[in-house]
Amino acid sequence: MDDVNPGQADRTTGETVAPDRTGGAREPMVVIEGVNKHFGDLHVLQDINLTVGKGEVVVVLGPSGSGKSTLCRAINRLETIESGTISIDGKALPEEGKALAQLRADVGMVFQSFNLFSHKTIRENVTLGPIKVRKKSKAEASTQADALLERVGVSAQADKYPAQLSGGQQQRVAIARSLAMGPKVMLFDEPTSALDPEMVNEVLDVMVGLAKEGMTMIVVTHEMGFARKAADRVVFMADGQVVEVATPEEFFTAPKSARAKDFLGKILTH
Ligand SMILES: Nc1ncnc2c1ncn2[C@@H]1O[C@H](COP(=O)(O)OP(=O)(O)O)[C@@H](O)[C@H]1O
Ligand SMILES: [Mg+2]
Repeated sequence: MDDVNPGQADRTTGETVAPDRTGGAREPMVVIEGVNKHFGDLHVLQDINLTVGKGEVVVVLGPSGSGKSTLCRAINRLETIESGTISIDGKALPEEGKALAQLRADVGMVFQSFNLFSHKTIRENVTLGPIKVRKKSKAEASTQADALLERVGVSAQADKYPAQLSGGQQQRVAIARSLAMGPKVMLFDEPTSALDPEMVNEVLDVMVGLAKEGMTMIVVTHEMGFARKAADRVVFMADGQVVEVATPEEFFTAPKSARAKDFLGKILTH
């Protein structure tokens, strides 16, 4: 990209990625261009343009119903789009078939609900994808699973079933399961919203660790502390549009749009 201007995020379109920690330009990892989608009469994604650089952490904020989940799902092709393009690491998202399965495996996704397989152990939940999709041997997948479970702090639970774990532990397993596929990008859609408050931080800590290690992350969250601490940029969505793109510092201290000011006023006064 010739038009990368380190330190100068484009606040209207989001097409300029944030510089890396040494101030250098980043290669694009996720490129979303001119994306539109309707649900019936509802124009849920309106000409979305956003580039996320390699190793960049983008937090997506916005009121309920603004299209944040739909955007995440479109990046993973869980939702189709009507126009525009989405590419991951230089490859356009295929419509269907084997290429789509491969590309999906490059994009890890962690949702609000944990979605672990209830009849499989924690270790089996983590080894399943690598064995089926990545064609790893059972032994190799198992060794990797144990290392990942250790990393997210639930190694003692490896032989238990999901229902025996707390919500925070299950969500950390969901993160380990995604990481086991070796994703290039991780999408998080309100990963802590369904958790009891005392379990939020243990999940956010794992996410902060991932961010520090250089994972490319797109995170929909209402956790402003995480946004301030870990985000390179904040993307503010409202009514199907990207309204504002800024650094967390800029966004939280001097939001530009009336919509963002209104949103921050509502969430920060409590
Ligand atoms: N499958 C669907 N069919 C119809 N409308 C939908 C569907 N999914 C989401 N919507 C609508 O699209 C809008 C955006 O939803 P969503 O992307 O979930 O927003 P957010 O995640 O920002 O809360 C909402 O008005 C929602 O009701
Ligand atoms: Mg949502």
